[in-house]
Amino acid sequence: MDELKHLNKYFLKYKWHLLFGILFVSINNIAGVYPPRIIRHAFNLVSENITYYQMFDGFELQKDFYNLFSYGLIVFAVVVLFLALVKGLFMFLMRQTIIVMSRLIEYDLKNEIYGKYQLLSTSFYKRNQTGDLMSRVTEDVSHVRMYAGPAIMYTINLSILCTMLIIAMLSVSVKLTLLVLIPLPILSISIYYINSIINKKSQEIQAQLSEITSVAQETYAGIRVVKSYVQEENINNHFDYESELYKNKCLSLARVQAMFHPFMIALIGLSTIITIFYGGIEVINGKISAGNIAEFVIYVNMLTWPVTSIGWVATIIQRAAASQKRINAFLNEKVEIINGSIENVDLKGNIKFENVEFTYKDTGINAVNNVSFNINSGEKIAIVGHTGCGKTTIADLLLRMYDVSGGAILLDGINIEKYNLVKLREQIAYVPQDVFMFSDSVSNNIAFGKNNASEEEIIQATKYADVYKDVQNLPEKFDTILGERGVNLSGGQKQRLSMARALIKDSSILILDDCLSAVDAETEKNILYSLRKYMSEKTAVIITHRISSLIDFDKILVFEDGKIIEQGTHKILMEKEGVYYDLYTKQEVEEKKMMS
Ligand SMILES: Nc1ncnc2c1ncn2[C@@H]1O[C@H](COP(=O)(O)OP(=O)(O)O)[C@@H](O)[C@H]1O
Ligand SMILES: [Mg+2]
Repeated sequence: MDELKHLNKYFLKYKWHLLFGILFVSINNIAGVYPPRIIRHAFNLVSENITYYQMFDGFELQKDFYNLFSYGLIVFAVVVLFLALVKGLFMFLMRQTIIVMSRLIEYDLKNEIYGKYQLLSTSFYKRNQTGDLMSRVTEDVSHVRMYAGPAIMYTINLSILCTMLIIAMLSVSVKLTLLVLIPLPILSISIYYINSIINKKSQEIQAQLSEITSVAQETYAGIRVVKSYVQEENINNHFDYESELYKNKCLSLARVQAMFHPFMIALIGLSTIITIFYGGIEVINGKISAGNIAEFVIYVNMLTWPVTSIGWVATIIQRAAASQKRINAFLNEKVEIINGSIENVDLKGNIKFENVEFTYKDTGINAVNNVSFNINSGEKIAIVGHTGCGKTTIADLLLRMYDVSGGAILLDGINIEKYNLVKLREQIAYVPQDVFMFSDSVSNNIAFGKNNASEEEIIQATKYADVYKDVQNLPEKFDTILGERGVNLSGGQKQRLSMARALIKDSSILILDDCLSAVDAETEKNILYSLRKYMSEKTAVIITHRISSLIDFDKILVFEDGKIIEQGTHKILMEKEGVYYDLYTKQEVEEKKMMS
């Protein structure tokens, strides 16, 4: 229950919805409790006057008496009808306030969670499954909404209705009331017991649903691998197995729930029998009227709904608490990357690594080990080395996807942790190693790099990345939809579009992470040629496994196991005849082989 306190701020925000809701619920209940009393009077009127009516048998007066008597009944009927209308109106208003409030809270909560997702670092996303992230925003929020709306509405409704009913019953007969209420504590205790079973089972169902979502999501994302390895059947079986577990859990819950209702109805029926039996004795003894029995039977039936729904409301609240606990776990997740305060960023492009250390927390892999280097504004440097030597990690650190574990990274002489994150990342154009295309048009995918990019800028960016001709050949050119359910491009085309997206930013720092691995040597030459002009004024860090002679690098950093083992210009490193020399000569041999 403690977990649900998180919602209090929203209840405060929508206090008027809530307060008016409570008011409407109260009026709705008052209108509901009066009709049984009127029915009692009507009942008594009939039972008392019927004898008089028979006494006037054969007299002229009988007709007048009948008119008077039926007129009285009509008045009662009109009052009951009127109260029903009032009740209906206020039931409408009560839903309009409280249920509307729950929808508003649902909207706010979804946005809060989504906003938090945007703040969390990449390491958070490595730790958590996509299906799980999604079910927090969908399933869990909808459970919480059931608490913020229906559960609250019914709780208020029930407590007011029960109080009023019991007061009304006590005013008729204390003894009868106590007798009729005897089955209720048994009911409450059993509800509590059955509910804890229901709650446990629902939690299991919830977890299983998350599992299914994750399995499905992963399969869709990796559908090409699944198909090419002909694993459809295995994947199907796996999904089948998870679904089977889900089904069994649901059925087991349904069994418990199925027992729940007949049990309630039986207990309520018992109350009705007590009313009629014991009430009948009281009428014979002359303590209460026959109308009182009719009134009481209605009260007991009116209690049916509150008593039954206590169980239902309790389930909703428990389920909501479980969901909110899961939501809170994410909302309370510490934002690892703390935003800096320097907003006025206009980077010149001076990059300095000072004894930088970095260890991935979840794996304990020491990916960057005491790395120091200096890049002056406008310089072009290359980072080379075998897979897994820490090149991508260096790029991630520069963009502050992670914070360093030791040492410092300075941009224009200031520690990058002091910069506002948004401003910092805005000023660095980064082409990641893994290409990602949104299910959107080519032009929007490129314009993702720059808000309000003009058509010319988009075209220019594709020209720099040497992908303009490819786009022209697409069915709808720049309006062609890519990504999910869009046109599938080749790996090389996607890499170049991804580059265009970065180049359009026109930032002073450009980082390319092995982004030409899927293009052929000819295309690479073209790109590097146009890049030379584009980069002339910029600082560029080019991570690559193929060293190109087209760019005259000011410095080449050779990495191994997270350390810089050699650095210098191409000329110096070749003369040294070390690791770089080996890499370069091997590459030349391979290229010659390819040519012949
Ligand atoms: N998100 C991550 N979590 C844990 N370890 C990682 C992560 N990313 C990379 N690593 C590890 O860090 C080392 C350096 O990786 P990376 O920087 O990607 O190398 P490169 O880009 O040179 O291939 C590798 O041993 C890799 O397994
Ligand atoms: Mg890499």
